[in-house]
Amino acid sequence: MLNIALPKGRLGENVYSLFEKAGFECPEVTEKSRKLIFENAEKGIRYFWVKPSDVAIYVERGAADIGVAGKDILLEYEPDVYELFDLNIGNCNMAVASIAGFRDNPQKTLRVATKFSNIAKRYYSSIGRDIDIIHLNGSIELAPLLNLSDVIVDIVETGSTLKANNLKVINTIFPISARLIANKSSYKFNDTVINELVSRLAKQQ
Ligand code: PRP
Repeated sequence: MLNIALPKGRLGENVYSLFEKAGFECPEVTEKSRKLIFENAEKGIRYFWVKPSDVAIYVERGAADIGVAGKDILLEYEPDVYELFDLNIGNCNMAVASIAGFRDNPQKTLRVATKFSNIAKRYYSSIGRDIDIIHLNGSIELAPLLNLSDVIVDIVETGSTLKANNLKVINTIFPISARLIANKSSYKFNDTVINELVSRLAKQQ
């Protein structure tokens, strides 16, 4: 049985469609229900829906053999997994943003609100800027509006959340997309089937 962790939500649904077209179908997955595990015994495939930021944990610890995680999560948590393939979906950017017209004062420590503390620390250390990290779990855009932070480091997809809150991108740090990842020892035992999946996914691009 190949255990596959999919990120819950729209990205996961798109990922499942790609896997289905690649011959890794499991029709129950698309049914609306509260069930979290779905099996196609004939094909030897089991899918489960996982919170997107948890996929890498399931894969790293071997509860899932493979899974799909955003490059943002892989760079933030640096899980010990193989990154096998760029699915080229869920494309967005990690960016620094602030209130329109914000000017950085290099004499002062910059207050940075983010869900991605490690990414933000690495980025600002690479440019030699002193910062104070304010770790938040969501609605990051609120922080500069309430003067909790000077800037945010966050994901920008369509840009509509920034626009609706009068915020602007100052810098793009790196592009993000969904990646197929594998548990290191599972990959050794299942390399034939996993490589077959990768080559079929590659053909769809
Ligand atoms: C993400 C991200 C931004 C938003 C960007 O938040 O943190 O807030 O999406 O998308 P956009 O550029 O298309 O507007 P998410 O929806 O995951 O919720 P969160 O605020 O709880 O993190």
